[in-house]
Amino acid sequence: METLSDADIFVKNTAKTVDNLYYPTFHVAAESGWINDPNGLIYINGYYHFFFQHYPYSAEWGPMHWGHVISKDLVHWEHLPIALYPDQDYDRGGCYSGSAVDNNGVFTLIYTGNVWLGAEGDDTHIRQVQCMATSTDGINFIKHGPVLYPPEGIMHFRDPKVWRARDSWWMVVGARPQTNLGEVRLYQSPNLTDWTFVRILDQATTSQEGFMWECPDFFNVNNKDILITSPQGIDAQGYDYRNHFQSGYRCGVWEKDSSYTVQEEFKEIDHGHDFYAPQSFTAADGRRIMVGWMNMWNSTMPTQKQGWAGAFTLPREVNYNEHGRLLCTPITELEQLRSDYNALKPFSLTNMRVGLATQYQEYKISFDLAKSTAERYGFTIGDGAKIFIDSQSKRLVLERLSTDLTLNTERSIPLIACSKINLHIFVDASSIEIFVNDGEYTLTSNFYPSAGNNTVTFYTENGKAVVSSVECWKLANIFSSCSE
Ligand code: FRU
Repeated sequence: METLSDADIFVKNTAKTVDNLYYPTFHVAAESGWINDPNGLIYINGYYHFFFQHYPYSAEWGPMHWGHVISKDLVHWEHLPIALYPDQDYDRGGCYSGSAVDNNGVFTLIYTGNVWLGAEGDDTHIRQVQCMATSTDGINFIKHGPVLYPPEGIMHFRDPKVWRARDSWWMVVGARPQTNLGEVRLYQSPNLTDWTFVRILDQATTSQEGFMWECPDFFNVNNKDILITSPQGIDAQGYDYRNHFQSGYRCGVWEKDSSYTVQEEFKEIDHGHDFYAPQSFTAADGRRIMVGWMNMWNSTMPTQKQGWAGAFTLPREVNYNEHGRLLCTPITELEQLRSDYNALKPFSLTNMRVGLATQYQEYKISFDLAKSTAERYGFTIGDGAKIFIDSQSKRLVLERLSTDLTLNTERSIPLIACSKINLHIFVDASSIEIFVNDGEYTLTSNFYPSAGNNTVTFYTENGKAVVSSVECWKLANIFSSCSE
């Protein structure tokens, strides 16, 4: 039987004091405390397991544990006891990010053990090793210690992603070599415990490509080999790379000799304020599903004062299209959450505001760009955000409204040769996810409307907007109990 540790009891007790104003109702989050990266996403023995970087004792980052939730359907979730604690010589500074595999029925986690060699938090003196843990019940994990040590001269060496292919186990690990040009290192193993270095799979060639590539992920989708990385150290350029760190993808071919031929250059996965360190896995029916951390290092996090910080994005199905873009769409299972439904007939508005009377969580909204003449048109979500089309810059803009000027910023995507735009939007208590034109672009941002104020109001500025369709739904809570 599962037992609860002191940390679990602390989390459950503190959860009672969490202020629910901004706490999500249909996104995975810890009951209280801090979370960052999604870890160990897997479907095994009839359940989906998601783990997360977790500090149970406060809403700030601290010595990392692995929090744990499970689901039968990827929609309804249940909290399980914390799976990993930083309690060994090799991981006492934190059980950092990693992945999960099904080793012939043995549920296996591979994660980074971090050790501070100098002062706690001084990341110029660290040791990072890749460690293994296994479980027979999917709840309690036994640690087996390090299975892979860093190469000579490299301290930053973390976030192992392991997969099975070509009759072998493979692992990609992110690293920061002395050149400060981030890289992804590829390893191979017959048994998950003995690992051999194969090659550097991909690396930065200029400092603008990042000094450290965190959280690599490598998978095949639609016959393309996609390499995901979360580079640190890319400077903002125009509308791009605006967040503290970025997550992006390259597309190419994983050759027979295991080298990687890049065909398409790095592109950001998401264009909002809050998306980082995504991880993907294969669902029961073979779809590739990706989940990101819906937050960003160094950003202002008002919920920290309310006892929690960090949540996951909705699970997104990932495909790759003929225009060289990774398509991310919300998994269709989420439709199970829908309740009250409303739809509006097509309408147009000129220099005015039209508000919906009720607050919904899921919206499908289309604008006819060819027939709209306004300089700017779109809608507000309460007093927390504006989503609009800027006809002059030809961009779709997500503007976050806040009296805190670190939060009051916008993110946007180009609207090239679009005569219509279809937006699929999910609005939780403090987050917005926008899926544009069937996932060609996504924008994910946290926002902080004042209490109970996030109804949608359409508006135009200087001209007419043609709204071709509006559908909306209320969504149920995902943490009821795990559906049988
Ligand atoms: C990415 C990251 C990982 C690391 C983890 C520590 O957000 O920095 O590289 O394993 O977070 O919590």
